[in-house]
Amino acid sequence: MTKRIVLSSDHADIELRKTIAAHVAKLGYEAIDIGPMTSESTHYPLHGQAAAQKIADGGADLGILICGTGQGIMMAANKVPGIRCGVCSDTFSAKMIRAHNNAQMLSLGARVIGEGLALEIVDAFLSAEFEGGRHATRVDMIEG
Ligand code: RB5
Repeated sequence: MTKRIVLSSDHADIELRKTIAAHVAKLGYEAIDIGPMTSESTHYPLHGQAAAQKIADGGADLGILICGTGQGIMMAANKVPGIRCGVCSDTFSAKMIRAHNNAQMLSLGARVIGEGLALEIVDAFLSAEFEGGRHATRVDMIEG
């Protein structure tokens, strides 16, 4: 089954979000871009939580979030029960948040990294698989 990726951001960089949505669609994923569609100032918790809730409700498999630093929107997403989201500014971390932490969501800082690196980080995140085993024990401990 084609994996469904929900994308959201705040106003920090909606163009980067659209570029990533087109990129993942080209890779064969279903991109579910829930906006916002204008660069008007908005509140990142709304968008992080909406995207995370989409995954929690079964409407998407993975998610990609963007705000200025990636931090605030990640914090909001992680408040949704069962969601694991990490901010990455390098490809190794992007691979490992899936391989070891079974993160469903990747968060990017549009004011921290450029578009080229952002796309490589997305590729690293999407190419990795959860390794399970001892890592599953630890992830279960996060969930409590
Ligand atoms: C918005 O100016 C900025 O605070 C937001 O995009 C993000 O960086 C918060 O973590």
